[in-house]
Amino acid sequence: MSPNLIPVLTIDGPSGSGKGTIASRVADALGWHLLDSGALYRAVGFAAGMEGLDLSDADAVTRCAQTTRISFRDPKDGGETRVIINGLDATDDIRTETCGAAASAIAAIPSVRAALFDKQRSFRKAPGLVADGRDMGTVIFPDAGHKVFLTASAEERARRRYKQLKEKGLGVTLAALLREIQARDLRDAERPVAPLKPAADAVLIDSTGMPIDAVVAAVLVLVRPPRADR
Ligand code: DC
Repeated sequence: MSPNLIPVLTIDGPSGSGKGTIASRVADALGWHLLDSGALYRAVGFAAGMEGLDLSDADAVTRCAQTTRISFRDPKDGGETRVIINGLDATDDIRTETCGAAASAIAAIPSVRAALFDKQRSFRKAPGLVADGRDMGTVIFPDAGHKVFLTASAEERARRRYKQLKEKGLGVTLAALLREIQARDLRDAERPVAPLKPAADAVLIDSTGMPIDAVVAAVLVLVRPPRADR
């Protein structure tokens, strides 16, 4: 099948909106592939940090984005998809707030985004793809048949993130997380290249106060509308 005929569902939105969980649950339900594009930016941020690069040095960080080997591996026993960076499992390392901030900084460099463009497009494989990120529906897969922009209030997103990080045993405060989320939102929304904004044809879902199952159902219904004869 020509890649352009393979169905794509894009799920964009700010950090902590639940995109990751929703995208993964929806991909499982549909039996489609999953692209966690944020993990690619986090991987480059992580690799740049390992190399001791100055994150504002666009040339150096772009070279890093071009040469870092990033792959995803499904664990045999279920559980979280492993993120392998230059041969090393960095799944937990890339989830820290420091790495999130590094990802957000390097994601504002146009040549870094260009370096990751083809890699992201290569995830479009039969029978379909669920792509999660900031610019999936606007830049990477503008021809996607289904687009969602998922959001939630900053306070709710901070609370969710707090719970996640606590469960992982990482020490953070709710107030600090809220500040970081607000700062990251602003940086992601105001950058000149691929800013965080809904595609004109995206369906907006505000998940504040909504249980995960309800959000999953609201997204699935867009891809598999209920048949009138059922
Ligand atoms: O979704 P996330 O929190 O893992 O993403 C980490 C950072 O990467 C986020 O602050 C912005 C950036 N990002 C991006 O610019 N474009 C994407 N498609 C995905 C993530």
